Amino acid sequence: MTENLRDGLELRSCISADGMLEIELVDVPVPVPATDEILIRMEAAPINPSDQALLLGPVDPGGLASYGTKDRPVLRAALSTDALNGVRNRAGQSLAVGTEGAGTVVRAGDAVADLVGRKVAVLGGGMYTRYRLVKAEAALVLPDGINVSDGASAFVNPLTALAMVELMREGGHEAIAHTAGASNLGQMLVRLCRAENIPLVSIVRSAHQAARLSGQGARHVVDSSAAGFVDGLTKALAETGATIAFDAIGGGAMANHILSAMEAVGLRNGATYNRYGSGVFKQIYIYGSLDTGPTLLDRRYGFDWAVSGFLVTPFLQRIGPERFNGLKERIQREVQTVFANDYSHVVSMTEMLNPDIVRAYTRKATGEKYIVDPSR
Ligand SMILES: NC(=O)c1ccc[n+]([C@@H]2O[C@H](COP(=O)([O-])OP(=O)(O)OC[C@H]3O[C@@H](n4cnc5c(N)ncnc54)[C@H](OP(=O)(O)O)[C@@H]3O)[C@@H](O)[C@H]2O)c1
Repeated sequence: MTENLRDGLELRSCISADGMLEIELVDVPVPVPATDEILIRMEAAPINPSDQALLLGPVDPGGLASYGTKDRPVLRAALSTDALNGVRNRAGQSLAVGTEGAGTVVRAGDAVADLVGRKVAVLGGGMYTRYRLVKAEAALVLPDGINVSDGASAFVNPLTALAMVELMREGGHEAIAHTAGASNLGQMLVRLCRAENIPLVSIVRSAHQAARLSGQGARHVVDSSAAGFVDGLTKALAETGATIAFDAIGGGAMANHILSAMEAVGLRNGATYNRYGSGVFKQIYIYGSLDTGPTLLDRRYGFDWAVSGFLVTPFLQRIGPERFNGLKERIQREVQTVFANDYSHVVSMTEMLNPDIVRAYTRKATGEKYIVDPSR
């Protein structure tokens, strides 16, 4: 029997042309699937750091004020002129938020009718919504018996971890260094590298995080808050041979520390003195902005280095559908093991607009990942 559907409801974020951020829940029609489409009742969508950037723009969560009613809260904050100038290209647009998520197929077009009732994971934006319409071919059908929350983050972090391994191999590197090493993605990378036999240096910023990763079997963990961090990092890079690093922090001196330590290892291994440096190529990909300040590079590591940005979407476009599908199939098989995620809280879309809860999930703290259940 076909279940009755509720009215559509969607979370939107808008920054007006005069600099007011407004986040609210809006009524939307429930779409009807075309023959190759499915309609998903969204039941789990992570609040990832990149989602927070779209949700809040440059607004400090401490400055949010709540208006509206208990059922339809509205969050507002005024942007400074400087902050508004940085986001002018989105001004006036009511943006749907939520990069990925999972749920149950409640309606389907004729060609894909067998998917009704299946749990699926999807990528594509606008996931903080009661019902999301997608092409069936874009969905990843989750194994039977799985909790829908296990499939909520089946794309962004797993594909990024897999991309790191692919980029390491493409560049002829033999090991990886990774910052914010205890993040959900960092813990996933520990499991993936172990499965692939790739040495990994995980850089964390507290003894607690170091213990957490070591407890999960990570072999090379370096704590940036510890005395002797640079020596420890150099030792770990020497032991693993890592000459490629993925830096989620972005701002500050972390990329510089890694390049300097890689160069120290290269110089130590070099036979003769070369005034242009070790000649060992060192690659840093900045793939996050956990520290929004400027990236500080003192360039005291010769000339064989590169610092580039990395985003998973262009990477997936570059590798083409065949390789992309291969990665997706692997995630589908290992979604509860290598690519498992850890969530601390589940909230409704209404709760997501509670200023206290906003402040909690925007802390982006280790082990405190929030998930939204738009069906609540
Ligand atoms: N470029 C891409 O395509 C792409 C794709 C996926 C993910 N990402 C990025 O990957 C990163 C991790 O994502 P996630 O979902 O795994 O995050 P998460 O589970 O929410 O974990 C965030 C981690 O970052 C640490 N952290 C927060 N602020 C920090 C800072 N200023 N310096 C150092 N560490 C800090 C936290 O440690 P504490 O407990 O010490 O705060 C925590 O371990 C994010 O930056 C995200 O944007 C990028």
